[in-house]
Amino acid sequence: MLQDKIKQYTEEIEQITLSSAADVENYRLKFLVSKGVIKGLFEEFKTVSSEEKRVLGKVLNEFKQLAENKYQEGQELFGKSNVTATKRDEVDLTLPGEGFQLGSRHPLSLVRKEIVEIFKKLGFVVAEGPEIEDDWHNFSALNFPPEHPARDMQDTFFIKKQDGNDIALRTHTSSVQVRLMEAGKPPFRAIMPGRVYRNEAISARAHCFFHQVEGLYVDENVSFADLKQTLFHFVQELYGEGTKVRFRPSYFPFTEPSAEMDISCTICKGQGCQLCKGSGWVEILGCGMVDPNVLENCGIDSKKYSGFAFGMGIERITNLKYEIKDLRLFSENDVRFLSQFETEII
Ligand code: DAH
Repeated sequence: MLQDKIKQYTEEIEQITLSSAADVENYRLKFLVSKGVIKGLFEEFKTVSSEEKRVLGKVLNEFKQLAENKYQEGQELFGKSNVTATKRDEVDLTLPGEGFQLGSRHPLSLVRKEIVEIFKKLGFVVAEGPEIEDDWHNFSALNFPPEHPARDMQDTFFIKKQDGNDIALRTHTSSVQVRLMEAGKPPFRAIMPGRVYRNEAISARAHCFFHQVEGLYVDENVSFADLKQTLFHFVQELYGEGTKVRFRPSYFPFTEPSAEMDISCTICKGQGCQLCKGSGWVEILGCGMVDPNVLENCGIDSKKYSGFAFGMGIERITNLKYEIKDLRLFSENDVRFLSQFETEII
């Protein structure tokens, strides 16, 4: 009978003494949870006749109230705050604290900074330009012929046409040279780091965006010897004394003459290994004497002034420094990769 059960449980509750947090919890588990005593009694209540319901409804509600009050009292005595207080007493204040997990600089930032620092010491200033460029700054002013393949859809991310001109993501930082020369008067001595974009399928060796550092030196009587000495010094600083350089003739629309510079392989020191494909040399940058057309396009008298320029990929320099074989690692944000470069914090 329901009535008897209620009576029995009422007596039980009246006799229970809750004297610890564990008691309170056991009490809750017995009476208050969804499969507990109270719920059970209410289920049974549904099955009794409506006459009985009239009487028992009140009794049952009083019992529920009693059971909940008891729990409330227990909670107040041994509830959460008391538990924490006990735990706090157990804390050993002499233990060392937990250290902060500090992030680290991205390897490309580390190397960019290193490159920039070397040139700063030679009197180069840092300049930057926009990543969204027009045809003039990215191509035309740099002496690219109208049908040059670099303007092709396959290489360039075109954004839109504006007044008949293409607007695109810059494909190289050479565009910053143009902006710099247009905006000022010689001499110029600047280093220009930044992100560039090319419409390429992503693989271990190619990516649709990467980073370059451009260099420009324009003054009276600047010669190819100045170019060689500057870059030679740069390489000694970056890869260590004794690193050899060699210049191979090359072609860029914006320099004449143009060259590509190799350094003695950083891994095998010129002996020949997998990285340098046995040759002992690895290419690190393109360079040359600024083409007089480019100077004139930027409003600079090419009879009076001459200059040299160079451009290098930061990923390439970083790969050679840290022997990273897959370009995709730079943009995947994998902490296991990035946390290996904790060489410097600020
Ligand atoms: N802009 C060239 C590229 O993206 C690199 C370059 C080569 C820059 C020669 C220069 C230079 O300033 O003189 O491949």
